[in-house]
Amino acid sequence: MVIAGAAMTCHASAADGITVDHLGVNNTLVRVGADNAARYILLPVQEANDDATVNVLVDGKLDRVIYVRLAKSKVDYKVPFDISSYKGHDVVLNIVSSQNRANVREAKDDACWSAISLSDTFDTTNTEKYRPAYHHTPLYGWMNDPNGMFYKDGVWHLYYQWNPYGSKWQNMTWGHSTSTDLVNWEHHPAAIEPDGLGSIFSGSCAIDHTGSAGFGKDAVLAMYTSAATSQVQSLAASRDNGMTFEVYPGNPVLPLESEARDPNMFYDKEDGLWHLVLAHPLEHEMLFFTSPDMKTWTSTGSFGKGLGAQGGVWECPDLFELPVDGGKGGSKWVLLCNINPDGPFGGSGIQYFTGDYDGKTFTADTGADGKVVTKWLDFGKDNYAVVSWSDAPDARRTLIGWMSNWQYAAEVPTRQYRSANTLPREVSLFTADDGQVYAATVPSPEIDALRGKPTVRRSFSVGAKGSEVALPAANGGICEITLDIDARRCDTVELTLSNPAGEKAVMTYDPKAQTCSFDRRESGITEFSVDFPAVTTAPTFGSNGYLTLRIFIDRSSVEIFGNDGRFAMTNLVFPTEPYNTFTVKATGAKAKVNKLTVYPISIK
Ligand code: FRU
Repeated sequence: MVIAGAAMTCHASAADGITVDHLGVNNTLVRVGADNAARYILLPVQEANDDATVNVLVDGKLDRVIYVRLAKSKVDYKVPFDISSYKGHDVVLNIVSSQNRANVREAKDDACWSAISLSDTFDTTNTEKYRPAYHHTPLYGWMNDPNGMFYKDGVWHLYYQWNPYGSKWQNMTWGHSTSTDLVNWEHHPAAIEPDGLGSIFSGSCAIDHTGSAGFGKDAVLAMYTSAATSQVQSLAASRDNGMTFEVYPGNPVLPLESEARDPNMFYDKEDGLWHLVLAHPLEHEMLFFTSPDMKTWTSTGSFGKGLGAQGGVWECPDLFELPVDGGKGGSKWVLLCNINPDGPFGGSGIQYFTGDYDGKTFTADTGADGKVVTKWLDFGKDNYAVVSWSDAPDARRTLIGWMSNWQYAAEVPTRQYRSANTLPREVSLFTADDGQVYAATVPSPEIDALRGKPTVRRSFSVGAKGSEVALPAANGGICEITLDIDARRCDTVELTLSNPAGEKAVMTYDPKAQTCSFDRRESGITEFSVDFPAVTTAPTFGSNGYLTLRIFIDRSSVEIFGNDGRFAMTNLVFPTEPYNTFTVKATGAKAKVNKLTVYPISIK
């Protein structure tokens, strides 16, 4: 007997073990039989295409929905969809594409149907020339914000906003990596995946030392935003040190009537309460809550309306207390408030406030005029969504950011992976000449272990002709440069990274203006976005003509830390060949370079 309808479908040729039935101009069924033993379905992607909705049916029941840019005219790469947990069951991908098709015949011609395949393996060998050598990246797929970082038993856990099914933002999932040294990262399976409440947006983790949330003592608690039509806050817990999470069945634990996201929480031993900061993005404010058990939350206040930079949405908060001037100035609270757009150089930026937190809400410091001073944590274009590790050892406050900018993150010239993290950094507070307290950031001490055998030049003068130093050729110019300059009589000191292709990134120190700028307009590939070629400028915080710098060069980034981290500048660069020369020049008068050291960075 032929069932009416079935006779109408049209089978297309597909790989072994897969049947493809075209149901209409934009609807196709891809079947994998219950006898399949392969681990993955490899889905062919065409980067420039629109997302298709892939409804995953297991024995006829909807298991999950993923969105994939399935290939139309050509296959750019494949992404693995893991079907090992469905072993022994019928799997059907009920795919709805957004293509405009004249007829089924046209739809049948899409490149993905013949290229879709089954495999036991997925090759993650690096294929990218710009993949950093010593910065964290996902093995494949898109990454944005770092999430839920915590430290436990010698292990630094880093979760991140991840799309496992393509190199553009979609399917937000918590990816997971761990490290014992903040340099070498081990990749783990996804930690929290989209569910019926939505995809998994940014959030935080903390160890429940008292077992207050009911998942046991020392369970790792995660709080994140479930994002679908609404954005609500959800709880998950891990009883295996952050490797897997069980989602709390009572979610959401904190629904509000307006968009709110990126919960950041910590436990206060003194009042026995969990404290939560939540971004109220469109209102340009942060909301505060407390809870005894992470499940019932009481609103305690809000902060930010009309204060600081207000142009972009407020996202990804963090709140912590730090000593000022090494403890001599008491302590202050820092409220990180990532904003996008309206960062100091367009697009994404990290604003922060210093002040007091009384357990209920935050009050910001004011300047002599009674106004809140707008403060930025980084003076480059590519450091965003910065948050800190909870439970870090030795009272450390260790931060990491997403090394990109929403202006062009999806257009940068990489594909297998998209986006890296910044170097991990330690934050401290200092009082500047204007009497205000500011945050300094320096690379985490673990980064020093990367230093190879240095080339040192001591005490030399440079003028307009300049002086050149070769960068280590053996590892493609990947290095740390440290520099100690006396430029008291100069107009400018110019530090240039260049390559034989004529590409250059130029740092200019202006001792009179007390600024340091970074110009990447001719740094290599820049034309993928009008927002990429740019000059960014940092205040040097009163260095009186002396400047110390640590400059970290990786395959596609330059991170500058000046005057013991009083200013930091993080910028991406895509030179067509590695920078092999570092040139120091001065104008106005000669500059004295007290010491210049180049450490090749050795990579395991
Ligand atoms: C910041 C952000 C967060 C959100 C996440 C979604 O970059 O917009 O506010 O949770 O990205 O991926």
